[in-house]
Amino acid sequence: MEVFLDSVRLSEIEAALSRRCVAGVTTNPTFLLEEAGARPLSHLRRIVELLRPVGLPLCVQVMTTVPCEMVRQAEAIRAALDYRGLVVKVPCGWEELAVIAELDRRGIAVNVTACMCATQALMAASAGARYVTLFYGKMSDATIDAAAVVEDVVRALGGADSTCQVLVASIRRTYDVHECLRRGAHAATVSYRLLSALCEHPKTAEAVRGFAESFVPLE
Ligand code: E4P
Repeated sequence: MEVFLDSVRLSEIEAALSRRCVAGVTTNPTFLLEEAGARPLSHLRRIVELLRPVGLPLCVQVMTTVPCEMVRQAEAIRAALDYRGLVVKVPCGWEELAVIAELDRRGIAVNVTACMCATQALMAASAGARYVTLFYGKMSDATIDAAAVVEDVVRALGGADSTCQVLVASIRRTYDVHECLRRGAHAATVSYRLLSALCEHPKTAEAVRGFAESFVPLE
């Protein structure tokens, strides 16, 4: 399973890239508003300059709920960023299935976001999504068994020989990442705080403290 970074902060993206620990970056309108205010595209261009040398996917969400405007915005984002790794995020819904199919026809990779049940993800995959994003924490908030939904979608897409990847977002605990791994998700996208927590463990710290008691000068 791959791990993506869910952030628009340049320092966080740089730190993750320098450690080669992420397979892509996901963003959303809320993060962009906080970090870039009314100038999202110029901030996204700066993210692209960090990602360009490694070519990792960058997921950017449309900022409209009007389907025809989604297509226009996706084209505008593609033109403005000029980045082969661009993946346009579109929320899941009936009208949006037509947007997904149209963007796929135009050669724009699509991440269908905010999926809260297996059928949404499966229909989005049929429409041409490259990624379907399941909102793990938000499903749990609604007392849905999020891990079971991840497993159902992974199994159904695997059985259908689909190339669509199951990406899990709205992850709030490292335990959720382990659960996604166990259920066969292709990727999980996590905050910077969780990213660092994923490579640490109290028992590792304890073991290192034990070794430290035996440290002597090397020469
Ligand atoms: C996807 O865009 C984000 O990961 C998601 O909105 C965060 O969800 P949360 O606020 O439920 O953690």
